[in-house]
Amino acid sequence: MQRVLRFPEGFLWGAATSAHQVEGDQDNDWTAWEKLGRIKDGSVSGAACEHWTRYQADFDLAKELHHTAHRFSVEWSRIEPREGEWNEAALAHYRDVVRALRQRQIEPFVTLWHFTNPRWLAERGGWEHPDTPRLFARYVGRVVEALPDVRFWITVNEPNVYALLSYFVGEWPPEVRSWRRALNVLHRLAAAHAQAWRAIKAAQPDAQVGSALNLVDYRSERPHNVLDRVSTLISDRIYNHRWLRMTASYEDFIGVNHYLQQRIRFGSVRRPIIAAPQEQPLTDFGWKMNPPSMYRVLRLAGSYGKSLYVTENGLADAHDRWRQRFIRDYLGYVHRALQDGVDIRGYFHWSLLDNFEWREGFSKRFGLVAVDFTTQRRSIRPSARWFAEVCRKNALVLPDA
Ligand code: FCB
Repeated sequence: MQRVLRFPEGFLWGAATSAHQVEGDQDNDWTAWEKLGRIKDGSVSGAACEHWTRYQADFDLAKELHHTAHRFSVEWSRIEPREGEWNEAALAHYRDVVRALRQRQIEPFVTLWHFTNPRWLAERGGWEHPDTPRLFARYVGRVVEALPDVRFWITVNEPNVYALLSYFVGEWPPEVRSWRRALNVLHRLAAAHAQAWRAIKAAQPDAQVGSALNLVDYRSERPHNVLDRVSTLISDRIYNHRWLRMTASYEDFIGVNHYLQQRIRFGSVRRPIIAAPQEQPLTDFGWKMNPPSMYRVLRLAGSYGKSLYVTENGLADAHDRWRQRFIRDYLGYVHRALQDGVDIRGYFHWSLLDNFEWREGFSKRFGLVAVDFTTQRRSIRPSARWFAEVCRKNALVLPDA
């Protein structure tokens, strides 16, 4: 006997990437920082997946895997290499990328900012500078004008992760450790989002514009400890809700990026514990699987009354030991949220390809497709073939328990 969980008609299926992680040959604030030897495995993003030149073949793989949508980002530092100077060749390239997806009947979801900044912007204060939202909206206006065939736009990716890691924990460039500055950056990103939303709507009134937020399922480490509970509540308010409160009226949809449950212990808010029930597997990042968290964060995002897309969800799993189980169990909870009335319209696995995982370098393998970084050879992982059947059937077929 089998149990079949059907997804709504028109539900979109695919995978996500970001420019800096896959394209190769970047020149932005991250590349400058990588050269200081900050990446854990000693690597630099370098050629990455050479996706800049190999995108056609990569999209053939997405097509073969029955993806119906694809999320990627355009790189600000390529498009505006110096303040106010526009690189038409880069814009033409992204036009070709969109065309390549359309030719394969894959719906493009375009992210306009995914953590990296042009050097000139970083040098004048990056996201702390009051003028940055305006500059961002100007850049967005250019991109939107150049890509009239895109219907789905994601302004910024994980503003909360960026504010946290770059300005509070200080693990990412520019390595600041100040909650005041972190909150300021979050607010600037929210202003940038709102201005970009307006700019896109003015040019393309039918466009669907949202942002992609990282949502964490927060729990208290010691459920009966009042201080732990207060710290948990504060983390949830700031990390999960603050952005949505600020931007909800400028979201046609909310992009939900979900990876983790975290347990908060008073006094260690900077270093939460990543935990889940004992029996759940540990992935290569040290992140525990915890599928019910997906349900909880979808309910949380759903409470803002917008449609949702799962814009990222995935795991580092070089040997593909857990990926199929991970996708199956997390999708089970996406389906449960749908049944409870949450308006979810698509699921993007992170990632299509193994890629440059920020401070972890190339050591963490998130791809449905494995990449050999010496030869650039791609090989489809078995879990990706299994996921392809979910995409094709628009349904999750489960063996009866
Ligand atoms: C998210 C990022 C994405 C990727 C995954 C693993 O926080 O948006 O670029 O690094 O984590």
